[in-house]
Amino acid sequence: MPAPILVTGGCGFIGSNFIRLILETEPEVSLINLDQLTYAGNLANLTDVADNPRYRFVHGDIADRTVVRQLVQSGVSGIINFAAESHVDRSIQDSGPFIRTNIVGTQTLLDAAREFSVPRYLQVSTDEVYGSLGASGFFTEETPLAPNSPYSASKAAADLLVRAYVHTFNFPAVVTRCSNNYGPYQFPEKLIPLFITNLQRDESVPVYGDGQNVRDWIHVLDHARAIWAVYRQGRVGEVYNAGGHSEKTNLELTHLLLDILGKPKTLIKYVKDRPGHDRRYAIDTSKIEKELGWKPKVTFEQGLRDTVQWYLDHPDWIAGIRTGDYLKYYQKQYGQMAC
Ligand code: NAD
Ligand code: DAU
Repeated sequence: MPAPILVTGGCGFIGSNFIRLILETEPEVSLINLDQLTYAGNLANLTDVADNPRYRFVHGDIADRTVVRQLVQSGVSGIINFAAESHVDRSIQDSGPFIRTNIVGTQTLLDAAREFSVPRYLQVSTDEVYGSLGASGFFTEETPLAPNSPYSASKAAADLLVRAYVHTFNFPAVVTRCSNNYGPYQFPEKLIPLFITNLQRDESVPVYGDGQNVRDWIHVLDHARAIWAVYRQGRVGEVYNAGGHSEKTNLELTHLLLDILGKPKTLIKYVKDRPGHDRRYAIDTSKIEKELGWKPKVTFEQGLRDTVQWYLDHPDWIAGIRTGDYLKYYQKQYGQMAC
């Protein structure tokens, strides 16, 4: 069995879906998951694989040089960096944790990977580094970076740091930039799980501004498959976009959720807009499709229905998040609060 791949931020939404998928589909691969267990990291996202002999969890911070060096020195065949502060609204409240984790954390991983000659590194970046589109057009990998929020600026800094390490040190890295993910295990601060869990309780859903902002939605498993394709076959130094070809205004999406859950439109509540709110994201995925043969498989209609059903079927997971039970669990486990 080859040395394990170090996955960071694997207790979050996308990382946990990625880990489950890879353990299921790649019998020769073993994984170490380094996660700090912030408010967004939840061990309950991976209880079903916790005892898998090809999986190991390590509680730690990607910006902690000692922890990262120890892990990387012990021998890893590659690094896939999911760990991040990921919510735009939180970055508007306080950008500090975003700078530390997203930029300093990435730098710490890159330095350790260089020091111990790790042969492969994938940076999970985001389409938000491109900024905002007008009514037409798509982000390609050549679109200039123009981030608009502290979150996207910190992700762009990390993304460009990876580029600089490739250019300066011949560092063997690849980068993915994906659009908005949805699916199971997403923390209910993001639009889709927030709206589903509010509507389930007949609570209103806060639509920012006029609700006409557009996002391109992709199922989290399609994103996970894109990351794996780029990790395995992407050309060093290259960036690969991924997206779901499912552009929706926030209002269209809200109506779909109301229909699926059988709730009235009166639950829509228009609220003050997010400062600096990007108007539209849309992704040109021709590079990853042509070069790596990747395509999104999950249709938005089916994926959204399945996602709603997942939240309906997992009241304990939602209750644990709402009451902070999982944070108490960490406290017991690690002797401190995780956030
Ligand atoms: P998330 O917030 O659900 O999970 C983040 C995870 O990182 C958590 O488990 C958290 O505990 C961990 N973490 C945070 N700081 C850490 C640190 N200093 N050290 C170790 N672990 C730490 O995020 P997500 O939605 O799963 O996003 C994962 C990655 O994908 C991020 O890099 C994000 O920028 C990127 N991305 C997200 C989307 C999306 O739609 N959610 C789209 C494109 C790219
Ligand atoms: O595009 C990729 C990005 O998608 C990722 O890099 C980010 O980590 C991820 O959080 C996501 O960013 P967004 O800001 O697009 O996602 P969010 O779910 O916060 O918001 C989606 C849209 O819905 C956006 O236009 C803002 C709006 N919104 C959001 C919330 C939480 C509302 O109208 N009301 C809300 O309560």
